[in-house]
Formats: sequence, structure tokens, C-alpha cells
Amino acid sequence: MVSNAAADKADMQRDMKASRTASRGDKSGAAAARAVDVEALHRRFMAREATIGVIGLGYVGLPLVGAILDSGFAVLGFDIDAEKVAQLNAGRSYIRHIPANAVAGWRRAGRFNAVADFARLGEVDAILICVPTPLTRHREPDLAYVVGTTEAIAPQLRPGQLVVLESTTYPGTTREVMQPILERGGLKSGIDFFLAYSPEREDPGNTQFSTTKIPKVVGGDGPDALRLVTALYDQFVSGTIPVSSPETAEAVKLTENIFRAVNIALVNELKMVYAAMGIDVWEVIKAASTKPFGFMPFYPGPGLGGHCIPIDPFYLTWKAREYDISTRFIELAGEVNTRMPHYVVERLAGALNERFGKGVKGTRILLLGIAYKKNVDDIRESPAFRLMELIEARGATVAYHDPYVPEIPLSREHKEFAGRRSVALTPAALRDCDAALICTDHDEVDYRLVAECCPLLVDTRNACAHAGIAAASIVKA
Ligand SMILES: NC(=O)c1ccc[n+]([C@@H]2O[C@H](COP(=O)([O-])OP(=O)(O)OC[C@H]3O[C@@H](n4cnc5c(N)ncnc54)[C@H](O)[C@@H]3O)[C@@H](O)[C@H]2O)c1
Repeated sequence: MVSNAAADKADMQRDMKASRTASRGDKSGAAAARAVDVEALHRRFMAREATIGVIGLGYVGLPLVGAILDSGFAVLGFDIDAEKVAQLNAGRSYIRHIPANAVAGWRRAGRFNAVADFARLGEVDAILICVPTPLTRHREPDLAYVVGTTEAIAPQLRPGQLVVLESTTYPGTTREVMQPILERGGLKSGIDFFLAYSPEREDPGNTQFSTTKIPKVVGGDGPDALRLVTALYDQFVSGTIPVSSPETAEAVKLTENIFRAVNIALVNELKMVYAAMGIDVWEVIKAASTKPFGFMPFYPGPGLGGHCIPIDPFYLTWKAREYDISTRFIELAGEVNTRMPHYVVERLAGALNERFGKGVKGTRILLLGIAYKKNVDDIRESPAFRLMELIEARGATVAYHDPYVPEIPLSREHKEFAGRRSVALTPAALRDCDAALICTDHDEVDYRLVAECCPLLVDTRNACAHAGIAAASIVKA
């Protein structure tokens, strides 16, 4: 029996084959007038002889560079941040889970250069775009980076290039926003250059699924674009999933992240209900996960963090308004998840009161882990900062320990915390605080020491139970 997915892939491959036949065989009309040799570009991708440009050398772009280089292509990396460009060319990494010796190896192999000069875009056969897609202050999509990058590409665009957007965004961005900008100089998508969307599915710090092991969904503006983007990505990822349009590929990425946001909100809600009933949600999830079908575990926490899950769902919410449709699940999930830091602070306050007859005011609280998730150094949208704000607003002093974030850098959202430094996790420092609060459960923290030395340990990640530690000082939140 052929599965639906396999049948869809077969359909898509038939379309791509038809495009190949048309490119080769039809010497009349548009195909004959075409100056671009699609077959030659396809062959260059298949033979891994092309030079690939990657724009935006951050958490997504940099691992992508590594994957492309490892498969044998040459890579030209572009970033507007001159400091990052200089570091990479010196063989250094600025992302902790990408080791410096990997970058030094890329440089030694002689196939990687980083540049800030977009005039060099003409040298590459494909341009893969991995720039940020945040929200504005009014929580609407901020496409400034995508638009800025597209405007920088447009004057350099030459016939025969493949342009692929990887940044997460709402359906329509590739064709409604980028295509008109790229076509300003007179080149036409699908004829002179090829435009596609392929969402990044990077999971920083996940050692099981690195870039090359994660299949890529690809959607092209026309059959040639789809065939070219598929051929290129097939060289360096474990598989491609062609879909019928860039809009479908854009929707796939949003669906994946909305699925997570909504399910995390659900377990966060269950956590509050079960805690009131004296039931441990972690124990419930563990037992429910033994069902061999129809259940997938999601885990509660102190609130959403990172550049994706708290942000991406609102790209769809915004676009849905154009169709007079409200996205109530997404909004509700946002509300529940946004409430989590408040709930955690209430649990902390309740425990201080119950155990020591103290209010939060005047206490010293140690926050453990301020990166948005374990074993990475990324602090974007981390709920740790909201926790710090809320706890300090109640008159406590907050210090933090995070082996991945030795000092809090300056950011637009949390200027007031910039320059604070991670404190050492010594028995004396732990005894000196009234409570420790586990916000992010980095593996290298000694939770046993914390549980032994701290009078109260509020755990939002079930880190102590995972480490086999049971102590009267532990309160789950
Ligand atoms: N970080 C993740 O885990 C993750 C996972 C999947 C998808 N994504 C998506 O990937 C995209 C990139 O995210 P990221 O985490 O890599 O961001 P990032 O901030 O780590 O990296 C973006 C890079 O782009 C550079 N940049 C910004 N504007 C530029 C421009 N006009 N020209 C050239 N370079 C420019 C920045 O200097 C930075 O180095 C976003 O859309 C994000 O939603 C991120």
C-alpha cells in the first residue's frame, strides 16, 4: 500500500520530472528564449560543485554553513555584523555549541569565507536566507530583516541564481513580499532566477538531531525552483519533502511551532490544576506516556522562551486577520504560557510564607539557569528575565547562576539586567540565599549540592526528580 505522503511525493516528483523534460526538450517558445540553463545549475548542485551563499550567520545560519561545507560545496557566508564576520574568518565560533575547532576546520579546508560585502552575492549559485523574524513592540510580524536582506540581494541578483528563504514567517512572505522586490530589476522568478522557501528546523543543542539529520520541507515558485531547491538540499540533509508551494512550506513551519505552543500551554494549565489537587503533573505525564498510541508528552515549565515558540504563532494570528479569522487557540495558549512566571512566583511566595513565615520582600533568591532552554547559551525571550522582574518587584534581591551565560549582555528588552554576572555555585553562596529557583535545567549544575545547601528549592523543570534527588526543601512549580 502506498501511503498518502509517499503518493504526494510521487506526484511532486512527476511534476519536477515534467519540468526537467520541458527544460531539455521544448526548444520553442518561452523555453527556447530562456537564457538560463536550469539543467546546468541542477548538475552543479548534484555534483556539489556550486558555491552556496548563506545570509545571516546566527544560531540557524552557522550550523547550516557547516552542513553544506561537510557535503563538499564551497560557502560564502554573509552577515551585517562585522564582528561575527571577523571572528569566523579568524576560525573562532561565537555560539557555544558550535566548537571553535569546527570553524577553524572550515577555514583550513579553504572552502569557507565570511563577508559583510553584499556585492559578492554575484559569486554564488544559491542564496539561503536565515535572518531574524521577530515581533514588533505591538506583537506584529517584523519583516524588517527579511525585507532589508531582499533589498540588498535585488541589485546583485543575476540570472540563474536560486534564492531560498529559511526564516520562519507567515504564508505569503516569499511570493508577496520578497518576489516583487527581487523582480524590480527586470528579472522574473521561475524564468531568470528561482525562488523557494524551506523552513529551518534547527534545534540548538540537540545532539541527536543536528542539521544534516533533520529532513527539510521545500516549496518552490514553479517546478524549476522546486526541482533545484530539492536537488540542492538533498546533498546535505537526510531527506527533502517537496510541497506544492512556498505558502504550504511556510504554513508547515508555523504549524509545527503552533503545535508545540498550544500543547505546552495545555500541560502548563494541567500543572496548575493538578498542583491544586495535590497531584504531580510530571508523574501524570510519565505514566500517560506509556500509552503506545494517541499521546505525545509535552512538559510544563516557567513560561515559553527562545526565538521561535513564543513568537512564530503570532505570525499566523496576524495574517489570519486579513481573512477575518481569529486564531483563538493560539491566543489562549499565549495567555496561559505568559501567565506561567506569575504562577511560579506565587508558588515561591507561598513556600516562603508556609515554611519560614516570610514574605518575598527582603529575601535573597538565586535563579538557576537563565538561558531559555537547557545546555545552550541563547537567552532570547527567556522567562528568566520576567521571573527576575517579578521577584524584584516584590522587594527581593535576585542573583543568578548559569554556566552558559557568564554575564547578561545588553538587550533592548532587559537593559536593567545587563552586566550582571553569574555567581559561583559554592555551598556558602547557596546557604546565603533564602531560596533557589530552577528556571532552566542545565545538565552541568550540581542539583544535589543545591538541594543540600539551600533552605528552599523551587523546581520548575522537575530537574531534581530527574537527577534522583528527593528532599524536603524541594517544591515543584
Ligand atoms: N534559533 C532557532 O532555534 C531557530 C530554529 C528554527 C528556525 N529559526 C528561525 O531562523 C531565523 C533565524 O534565527 P536565528 O536564531 O538564527 O537568528 P540569529 O539572530 O541567531 O541570527 C541571525 C543573523 O542574521 C544577521 N543579520 C540580520 N540582518 C541581516 C541582514 N540584513 N543581512 C545579513 N545578515 C543579517 C545577524 O547579524 C545574525 O548573525 C528566524 O526566522 C528564526 O525564527 C530559528
